[in-house]
Amino acid sequence: MRILSGITPSGEPHIGNYFGAIRQYVELQSKGQAIYFIADYHSMNGVRSAAERRRLVREVALDFLACGLDPSETILYCQSDFPELCELTWLLTTVTPMGLLERGHAYKDKLAQGQPADHGLFAYPVLMAADILMYRSDLVPVGQDQKQHIEMARDIAQRFNNIYEQEVFVLPEPYILDDVAVVPGTDGRKMSKSYDNTIRPFWPKGKLKKAVMGVVTDSTPVEEPKNINSPIFQLWSLFATSDERDDMFLRARSGGLGYGDIKKDLLKRILDYFAPMRERREVLEKSPSEVDEVLEDGARRAKELGMPVLDRARQAAGVG
Ligand code: TRP
Repeated sequence: MRILSGITPSGEPHIGNYFGAIRQYVELQSKGQAIYFIADYHSMNGVRSAAERRRLVREVALDFLACGLDPSETILYCQSDFPELCELTWLLTTVTPMGLLERGHAYKDKLAQGQPADHGLFAYPVLMAADILMYRSDLVPVGQDQKQHIEMARDIAQRFNNIYEQEVFVLPEPYILDDVAVVPGTDGRKMSKSYDNTIRPFWPKGKLKKAVMGVVTDSTPVEEPKNINSPIFQLWSLFATSDERDDMFLRARSGGLGYGDIKKDLLKRILDYFAPMRERREVLEKSPSEVDEVLEDGARRAKELGMPVLDRARQAAGVG
């Protein structure tokens, strides 16, 4: 089974990304041939600085390796190291109905905000379809927000296969990553780079402490019962066993528990949980050439799997 997913390097990964995606990607490695790539072409719609893009690609690569991605099994590459993806994108573009792309959420949202959209945003789902179809991928693990894109990839694949009367592409299945873990940001809204409310597991301790201590709480006095649905409890719960959770919630309901104490405990738990990953990352940071090699090797293996499919598509369409 081929498992494929991409990560757009639009910001530094935070604990929301970790629990919402990275952790699951690492777990899925054992289920088949996993192919994960850093989608720097996709990031071009938002990130407009060359230096920033290169920095973010590295950050994402380091985070994934630190969090347990095993490069001897899993393919990790940077999208633009396989530029033939753009060729496949064109082959697919020519069979993609305008109406399909006009229904795209990202594009429609932009228009709804009254902002002008670039063609890159409009055509984003076709590039994403190329990413997926290039490997005849079976399973595409993504968050709920990307489900529409997988459905579009299926439609586009089917149209190409029908038009050129060959089963060039496999129709991919979305695998929606479970959303159970609600990860609120420091201000209580969903943790997101765009709200500037993130907590990054790889920050230096001081910065991490500042962020955790800054998580919003209400002004309930120490003696009174606390609302266990508040962001601080939700964050804390990510790092606790269910027994610990029951115990904590009991204490919260009976009063006498201070927010400061929960925050201190949360900080300790974050540091403990991520300790081995923080260590691995520190080592990797000191050997940039090792990361380069992983990405180079990943691109080479990705091409090995992808080029035969592109060749079939070329042949079917009579180009190249
Ligand atoms: N668009 C995806 C996101 O922002 C990233 C992505 C790009 C992707 N290409 C992909 C995900 C192919 C899965 C398959 O999250």
